[in-house]
Amino acid sequence: MPAQTLLNELKQAAMQPLETAHSLPFAAYTDNAVLAAEAQHIFHREWVFVCMAGELPDAGDYYALTLAGEPIIVMRGEDGHLCTLANICRHRGTVLLDAGFGRVDKYIVCPYHAWAYAKDGSLQAIPFNEQIHVDRTGHTLSRFQCAEWNGMVFVNLDPQAAPLSTRLQGIDPYLAMFEPQTFSHCSGGTAETWLTNWKLAMENAMESYHLFKVHENTLETYSPTRQAYYIAGSSEWTLTGGATARKKGLLEKVFGASYSELYEHYILVSLPPSFVGVLTYGSFGWLSAHPVDAGTTLIRSGATFTKDGSGGSPQSDEFTRAFFAEDQQMCERVQTGMSATLSRGGKLVDMERVVVDFHQFLATRLSRQPATPLFEDSMAQRFLAGA
Ligand code: FES
Ligand SMILES: [Fe+2]
Repeated sequence: MPAQTLLNELKQAAMQPLETAHSLPFAAYTDNAVLAAEAQHIFHREWVFVCMAGELPDAGDYYALTLAGEPIIVMRGEDGHLCTLANICRHRGTVLLDAGFGRVDKYIVCPYHAWAYAKDGSLQAIPFNEQIHVDRTGHTLSRFQCAEWNGMVFVNLDPQAAPLSTRLQGIDPYLAMFEPQTFSHCSGGTAETWLTNWKLAMENAMESYHLFKVHENTLETYSPTRQAYYIAGSSEWTLTGGATARKKGLLEKVFGASYSELYEHYILVSLPPSFVGVLTYGSFGWLSAHPVDAGTTLIRSGATFTKDGSGGSPQSDEFTRAFFAEDQQMCERVQTGMSATLSRGGKLVDMERVVVDFHQFLATRLSRQPATPLFEDSMAQRFLAGA
């Protein structure tokens, strides 16, 4: 199918409301022309989650990654602030730092001809200085927008983009009772490669409909599908939630006998294109999905939590690894299905309203349309009231 026809079909399918929403055209998950359009209209324009501020505690700590083809560095500067720099030498374009976490002592030194940049991206030193005349101020590393929310770091490659707070407008009051801004500790894992399209990984992370089947012996025992519900959302972000099988003893220790029953619930925060987090009393676990190509996605996960983890994540590393393996297997299995040309997907059900929101996110960005209006379900007022 020609790329433009496929993109039009994708936009048409993605903007449907819940009542008429179906799975997207399969080819939208395998076609690199679609990914190129997503890179241009989504990953180069939107706030994209990259890591946690707590993963870069000291000056010189950095996280280097490639975002939709752009090598970037998130760096803790000498001034204590995070900044985002192009990970590309201003001389002849060599990638400066290897991907992953690391620390720069004094300079970012290019491995090719050793031009050296300070942590703020300014060009500081050039070997054979006496023979080489280069205007240093004209060779500073490019900078991108970078902002934090509850200790999570987001990057935006578009210099004209509205602030992250605009994108997150209205979300905080629903989360307030869990006080995520007080979580001071964090842990993060290394990136894994999943052989699946980034949209499949995001859709899977967002919806709780599959828990009873895919995670019968893991997540379902803690947060069952039957107890999951929609809270509030739009094309911009979605909150879903559910009751957990959290041990009451822990919460009673913190609050005494009377506390909001909602502390035994979780809120799943879906913030496309790259962030899904599960907030509970005492912890905020997250997953990020960054596309590599149409069939390959880098997945990373981690959490922020309170110092003592009081009532925090009940999930051991082993538990998390187990349900991640289940998700990876299912996402890769669906990806195989996406190559079929003689079949098509079906109706999205009520429990998949969050997936519909995500599709509308795609449609609004690919078609340059305004955000869809916020929809609140019956649990929304309870979270706003914290009771
Ligand atoms: S390409 Fe970096 S110093 Fe030459
Ligand atoms: Fe899952």
